[in-house]
Amino acid sequence: MPGTKKKVFVKTFGCQMNVYDSERMAETLAPYGYAETTTLEEADVVILNTCHIREKAAEKVYSDLGRIRQVKDRRQVLGKDTLVTVAGCVAQAEGKEITRRAPVVDLVVGPQSYHNLPDLLFRAKSESRQVVETTFPEEDKFDKLPARIGPRAATAFLTVQEGCDNFCTFCVVPYTRGVEFSRPVASLIDEAKRLVDGGVRELTLLGQNVNAYHGEGPDGNAWSLAKLIDSLAEIEGIERLRYTTSHPNDMTDDLMAVHANQMKLMPYLHLPFQAGSDRILAAMNRKHTADDYRRVIERLRSARPDIALSTDVIVGFPGETDDEFEATLEMTREMKFAQAFSFKYSPRPGTPAAKMDDQVSEEVKSERLQRLQSLLAQFQTSFNTNCVGRKMLVLFDRQGKAPGALVGRSPYLQPVHVEGDLSLLGSIKSVEISSASTNVLHGVISL
Ligand code: SAH
Ligand code: SF4
Ligand code: F3S
Repeated sequence: MPGTKKKVFVKTFGCQMNVYDSERMAETLAPYGYAETTTLEEADVVILNTCHIREKAAEKVYSDLGRIRQVKDRRQVLGKDTLVTVAGCVAQAEGKEITRRAPVVDLVVGPQSYHNLPDLLFRAKSESRQVVETTFPEEDKFDKLPARIGPRAATAFLTVQEGCDNFCTFCVVPYTRGVEFSRPVASLIDEAKRLVDGGVRELTLLGQNVNAYHGEGPDGNAWSLAKLIDSLAEIEGIERLRYTTSHPNDMTDDLMAVHANQMKLMPYLHLPFQAGSDRILAAMNRKHTADDYRRVIERLRSARPDIALSTDVIVGFPGETDDEFEATLEMTREMKFAQAFSFKYSPRPGTPAAKMDDQVSEEVKSERLQRLQSLLAQFQTSFNTNCVGRKMLVLFDRQGKAPGALVGRSPYLQPVHVEGDLSLLGSIKSVEISSASTNVLHGVISL
């Protein structure tokens, strides 16, 4: 009965993989009559899909739970139940601690168990107790999830690889996502086809270490990411492919060749360098030097001269001196990143770097971050400004705020704002760029 439809509210923190997981969690509940809502007050099930990467991200969850408790209380007065779920990487890292700190929570479920969400919610409700499920099950959640429901936009994420065996000393991901695992090619082709049938034109392949992909191919052999990209590119309707996030040590020759030869692969790569000093890189257990990174970029640029780069950088890793920070600035100047994400080092419980002596003071970290970010912004602005006057192919994937405004993405992932008819959503058009700022481009659709 339409009037009795139940509602699920999902809030996503963290990386693109969490965005993907959130969609799939909502899909597990759809067969039970749950529709998604963006209004917390009307939600019968609330899911916070959380991120543990830095302290700030993790702490946000608890402030949200405070607000959710008030909503749950108000709904209870009206005779309505609310089941509160904490999913994602904080769930995996903190488990029972969450139920202790936040009695409002009914279910804690880790990233490898959310295919069981309906059962777990049923258990929490029928037994009226807090349920915690953070084991790493043997089964592959992707085999158990319901088939994908139609996508909502012309672009979609597709998780192809999950987990990480690299154990960078600052990072929680190997603990929250578990060991590296690659999905079989056949299941990815199948999911990609469903997405395309639903109108997707651009796929971003996701993995914590996506270029280490080695899933089983239809021939029984392990396929590389390069091979996977080429075979996804053959699906009619897929116009653009991207992948993220990569590790410099896994930029193999065949991946370079795909950048040179596969025109559906966009000329853009997110490749974190983290720090410019070899001593810091070694302490981070990155297993590459600054020059190794430079050589990777050189090879990439000779394979695909128009490639634009994005990166992640950490400032204030334990023991980082002024000179070592200068090496990070130097790398930034050399590489001229089109985009970048930069962070103050945040000590994470259970990681080796959190126990290192000589933690850098908050004040120094803030000062370094500010200097780095103003440099990064200069390069980002000049990359964007250089696009003015050029024609770029833009995939329109959402409406803008103003009436008649459309927003799309350039090949370099820049948001491009134009005036245009809604019927253009999902199509790729040539746009002449008329102005640029640090974060967006504006342009006119050229006929
Ligand atoms: N898998 C990706 C990174 C995932 S986390 C990779 O290997 O590059 C995204 C980014 O968050 C990292 O690249 C790093 O720059 C940053 N990060 C991770 N742990 C952090 C910490 N403890 N403090 C600050 N930044 C961190
Ligand atoms: Fe974390 Fe390093 Fe793995 Fe990236 S490669 S997810 S930074 S441990
Ligand atoms: Fe955060 Fe987990 Fe992604 S810690 S960055 S949500 S893998």
